[in-house]
Amino acid sequence: MAEKTEHGSSSAVSSPLSAATTAVTAGRPPREPDQPLNTPITMASTYGATGDLEYGRYGNPTWAAFEEVLGALEGGRCLTFSSGLAAVATVLDLVGQGATVVGPRHAYNGTVMQLGDLETRGRLRARLVDVSDTAAVIAACDDAALVWLESPTNPALEVADIGTIARAAHQAGAYVVVDSTFATPLRQRPLELGADLVVHSATKYLSGHGDTMLGAVIVQDDQLYDVLKGRRDLVGAIPGTLESWLALRGLRTLHLRLERAETNAQTLVERLRGRAAVTEVRYPGFGAIVSIVLAGGAEAGDLLVRSTSLWVHATSLGGVESTFERRRRWSSEPATIPDGLVRLSVGVEDVEDLWRDLSGALDEVM
Ligand SMILES: Cc1ncc(COP(=O)(O)O)c(C=O)c1O
Repeated sequence: MAEKTEHGSSSAVSSPLSAATTAVTAGRPPREPDQPLNTPITMASTYGATGDLEYGRYGNPTWAAFEEVLGALEGGRCLTFSSGLAAVATVLDLVGQGATVVGPRHAYNGTVMQLGDLETRGRLRARLVDVSDTAAVIAACDDAALVWLESPTNPALEVADIGTIARAAHQAGAYVVVDSTFATPLRQRPLELGADLVVHSATKYLSGHGDTMLGAVIVQDDQLYDVLKGRRDLVGAIPGTLESWLALRGLRTLHLRLERAETNAQTLVERLRGRAAVTEVRYPGFGAIVSIVLAGGAEAGDLLVRSTSLWVHATSLGGVESTFERRRRWSSEPATIPDGLVRLSVGVEDVEDLWRDLSGALDEVM
């Protein structure tokens, strides 16, 4: 949970900056008279020939600014994609034909579906494990080309021991990827723990306002960066310019939003643990996602999400507003996720208002 980062700003400050300072200061235009302080939105499908950019699919100064900030926060080089799943697909495409990929049984269901789809088409073999069972993950690493971790997992909130798994996976000759969407670089820095690649759905906390879709991959290895950039250039899973700008604007306040949402989540977790309607409260101890399991199962979950006025019934997470949903309403969610599990994405509203609304709805489901 390191908070210090370094970035490539031209400033005279040479010691590592705190993550909060990096989030605010990295990826800015040069400090020169008449330069804007904020990165402009550069709408361009092509550029004057013989420079570094050439064509809109190969690069854009607005994407580059977001990539500089997120790369600095994670401690590597960042590439953005059109969505989190486009980033996931690009990374999974790195493995050779027929390779074995170890993956989480409870990852974001889109990731599990991609693994299943690739397996059905004979592209790879997926070995699904509980990422919080370190021994089981290590045992599965044999012959694997890639170990895909998601930590914490969506929506089960299992946490992986990234350092121990990365050491074992590397001994077995496998690359290690961590989808760190729930943790953000402020609560987990997988590259420092030994992972080779970090993936984010920047749609979530990094953007933070429920108005943008974006994905990101961060690596330290220059060769790996070039391969991923080559794939993005070729396939065209590029971010939108406006989306990148919105995400950059959101990223500037990540530390403030996360601090408030996390404090709210911790207060709600304590109070939810005392409610009879709730049989289980899952919370990894950091971040602002909480999963609760209701005694009344699916029926209680469906009633709960219809019984609030502040909490919004919606999928997705990581925005300033509090949202929730019963995850098993999606047929793609694995049967090992309890029917009555409701995932809460705690926002930055006043916690007493949030509790009054949620507590009243819990009274309805009992
Ligand atoms: C952990 C995690 N990874 C990846 C994704 C996919 O990201 P996107 O929706 O931006 O494609 C999601 C989406 O919910 C997610 O929660």
